[in-house]
This record gives sequence, structure tokens and C-alpha cells, in this order.
Amino acid sequence: AAPAVPTSRKVVDVHTHMYPPEYVKILKRRTTIPLVRSFPGAPDPRLILLAAEVEALEKAEKDGSSSSSPPGRPLTRHYSSLEQKIHFMNTHGIDISVVSLANPWLDFLDASESGRIAKDINSEFSRMCGEHPGRLYFFAALPLTAPLNTVQEAIQHVRGLKYCRGVILGTSGLGQGLDDPDLLPVFEAIANADLLVFLHPHYGLPNQVWGPRAAADYGHVLPLALGFPMETTIAVARMYLAGVFDKVRGLRVLLAHSGGTLPFLAGRIESCVMHDEHLLRVRRKHGAAGAAACRSVWDVLRQQVYLDAVIYSPVGLQAAVEASGVDRLMYGTDHPFFPPLEKDDQGPWESATLNADAVMETLGKGSAEAAAVMGTNAVKILRLQGE
Ligand code: URA
Ligand code: ZN
Repeated sequence: AAPAVPTSRKVVDVHTHMYPPEYVKILKRRTTIPLVRSFPGAPDPRLILLAAEVEALEKAEKDGSSSSSPPGRPLTRHYSSLEQKIHFMNTHGIDISVVSLANPWLDFLDASESGRIAKDINSEFSRMCGEHPGRLYFFAALPLTAPLNTVQEAIQHVRGLKYCRGVILGTSGLGQGLDDPDLLPVFEAIANADLLVFLHPHYGLPNQVWGPRAAADYGHVLPLALGFPMETTIAVARMYLAGVFDKVRGLRVLLAHSGGTLPFLAGRIESCVMHDEHLLRVRRKHGAAGAAACRSVWDVLRQQVYLDAVIYSPVGLQAAVEASGVDRLMYGTDHPFFPPLEKDDQGPWESATLNADAVMETLGKGSAEAAAVMGTNAVKILRLQGE
């Protein structure tokens, strides 16, 4: 028999999503985004998630079957089938996946139902991981629209689930963003449970910034390529300015898409902080003059932030390596988003191979650093060793 892959060479995907069938059922019942709907002429049901897709949705509803381009994206088996996830992993040499519910998680649920649904969905992820012991772990979803005690109960629930290693969060928090002081007890509970926060975008930037031609002519490119990373960057910058990382020193945050643009812009954020008269006054008034309270963005990047390697190019990856350190970077694919358009979706996906190629080009194929980013870091950081 072939020897087991040594831990030093395990490949781990920390950025990979699923919508369990129960979640899809919820989306099928909805009339506003996020929703799932079938259109005549489109082979798969369509998954419509983003504000940038509403215009196309309304147009398709008006045009009926004459519409040549259905809105959103095809909801293929890849989103809900565990078998497809394992097939994707095997195709790309991925030993372990840390799966998470995809956006927009439970953000749109009514307060009265989100606690129960969170419990069901997280239990389902736990059950799925149990079907492939050692190959699957997960980041849980939190019922952030529910009262604080329900959120706290959810954290206590998921910390007890064998394969749970963190929680996936969007940028809206309790509705006011992640610099909301009311969110601090949640961050504290997550840190005390030794769970990682996987911070992931969904809301992007206001539609109008994409201009009048975007919806008709540019597909999802602007909101996904630029809106998502800016959203993440803004969310972390707000957390930094609010002192969240100082207030909850045990908080560890994995930033999607290599931190958005944070590695590239950290120096500018630092300079703007350094030269801001008003901020200086506010910080003095709150007595935040101690060294610990004035850690730079660079310090926070190296002490409390992890970055995924989902940036598709050695240029961005190099910035990520230099910003957080090669020991804090972890490979990801963003499966099942970004399937090949004109090739067999059961074969290799470029969205996965581009990220692996960028690691090899940046750090050297066969190097210890490349192996670290491809998997060893995740095994250590997320405790994926053994059962
Ligand atoms: N598009 C999404 O809506 N979510 C992802 O995670 C990736 C692409
Ligand atoms: Zn993603």
C-alpha cells in the first residue's frame, strides 16, 4: 500500500464552501435576494445572491423565457453534494478541506428562526465531516440576527462539535459592522472557545460605483474582483481603528482573498493613522497611549491575522507573504464558485490550480515554505492532526 502522505506534505483547502440541501430549500422559498429560482431555458436552477444581480433578475422576470442570459449563477450539484466536494478534493490533490457555509450565511434570517436554523445547519456540517473522518473539518455559521444570548448559545454549541474549527462571519456583524462595541462579547466568546474567525465578504460596494453599464455588460467581474476585496479591507480597517484586536487579544481572524487589499494598503493605513490629528485626540482622550494599545497594522497582521492564498497570482501572494508572514498563509480554492465555463466541471478547475501555481512560483516547488502554505500551516493553526 502507498505510504500515508506525511503531515509535512498534506494539502489543505481552508476556503471552500457548501450550501447543505436544507439551506437551498430556504433559498427556494424566498422572493428577494438571496434566492434560488428556475428559469425556462436554463438547465440548472439559478442562485442569485448579490445586490449587483438584482437588475438582471428583474429583467429575466420581465422577459420570461426570451431572456438569453439568466441571472446569477447555475446552482450545480457542486454546491450541495458531499460526493462532489470529495471528488473535487481528489481531482486537485487536496487531503483535507475546511468547509464553510457560503454567503450570505444566516444574515437574512428572521431573529425568531435564526437560532434554530443555525443549530440545524451546523449539526449538518458536523455530520457531513463525520462521513469522511480526517478529510473534512468546518467553520460554523452564527445566527447573528438573533438576540445575543442565542448567539452565545450557538458558540457553545459549535465549540462542542468534533470537527468545528472556527466560525465564518460576514462583515455586517449585528447590523452595524465589525467595529460595533456590542459585538465584543461575541468576539470574546469565539476567542475563549479557541475558534478562528473566517472573515468573508458578501455585500461588496454600493451598486452605483460600478456604473450604468455593469449589470448589462460586465457580469459579476467588478463586484467579485473589486467589491469583495474592498469590503474585507474596510471591515478589518474598522476593527483595527476600533481597537478590537487590542480588546480581544485572543481573537484570531483568517481573512478571505489574502486580506482583500490589506497587504497592499497596510502602509497607507499606517500613514493615515500617524497623520490624523483627530484620531490622535480621540486616542489620547480614551487613554489609549499604552504601547499595547498602539500596535501597528503590521503588528496585528503578524499576531492576530491569517490570510488565505486565494489571490490567483504570485504578485498578490508575495504581498500576502510579506504582510502576515509565510507561516500565516493558507491555501484555498473558493470551490464551488468559479467553475470552468467551457470545460468538464469534473476535471481540474483553474480557480484551484491558479492558486496552487502562485504558491509554487512565489515560494518554489518542493520548498518547505510552499508545503507550509499548501497545508502544514493549516494543520498546525487549525489543529487538523489525527482525529
Ligand atoms: N461569489 C460568492 O458569492 N461567494 C464566494 O465565496 C465567491 C464568489
Ligand atoms: Zn468564498
